[in-house]
Amino acid sequence: MSSTPPPADRPRPPRTAAVIPAAGRGVRLGPGAPKALRMLGGTPMLIHAIRAMAASRAVSLVVVVAPPDGAPEVKHLLDEHALPERTDYLVVPGGETRQESVRLGLEALPEDVAVVLVHDAARPLVPVDTVDAVAAAVRDGAPAVVPALPLADTVKEVEPAAPGEPEPVLATPVRARLRAVQTPQGFDREALERAHAEVAVDGEGATDDAGMVERLGRPVVVVPGHEEAFKVTRPLDLVLAEAVLARRRANDGF
Ligand code: CTP
Ligand code: MG
Repeated sequence: MSSTPPPADRPRPPRTAAVIPAAGRGVRLGPGAPKALRMLGGTPMLIHAIRAMAASRAVSLVVVVAPPDGAPEVKHLLDEHALPERTDYLVVPGGETRQESVRLGLEALPEDVAVVLVHDAARPLVPVDTVDAVAAAVRDGAPAVVPALPLADTVKEVEPAAPGEPEPVLATPVRARLRAVQTPQGFDREALERAHAEVAVDGEGATDDAGMVERLGRPVVVVPGHEEAFKVTRPLDLVLAEAVLARRRANDGF
């Protein structure tokens, strides 16, 4: 515990924690180390993501969900890199799916955590203002908060066919009503834990935590996301991430 403890006669205020699922392989990025451990501007993507969460004054604990056999390596990385000292850090091993990894992260939370942000390690460059806005919206009473952006492309629903085969179009949703969702997604802890207990999806699992809270029937709200909160998924995304870092360095220099 790095912060000064409150007097013994007063209970601790409820805390906000960030859970960072980082246990994926990164198959779509191509061969190499697990995605979260790949370098961006000379620093592992995971360290960028942890710093982005710890930079928010709202966040007092960061739980990193490491690749299943990679927890010792991730702990070592955290020791090697400078991180804000007012924040606590925990590392736990992850699971086979993102949903499973998030559940394992939730299980590691101490009792006094009331608000949880879930943030993909694969979104290393999210600005702190976005993190603060999500945390504030949960504290203001929304059980689930999702940062999102309008879409640039029109989206079509299709009947999936074999790779390379033409696919029949089933519908074209009105683009103005669609949003592409990002992380960190923010939750009232009780709502997210209940979602994991009651509406967990088998097989591949859910790719979106807020979707699980939706299925519980609880309200979910969208707040503005940020274009720098994009997910590093394919090789071209690494090029964009390096360019964003270079732009930040150039701006810091002037
Ligand atoms: N994730 C996780 N545990 C898993 C799978 C994914 O913690 N079993 C995490 C990833 O590390 C990532 C986030 O969930 O930070 C979003 O997932 P995605 O972008 O799909 O990453 P990967 O699953 O690693 O990539 P791919 O699907 O291309 O293999
Ligand atoms: Mg994946």
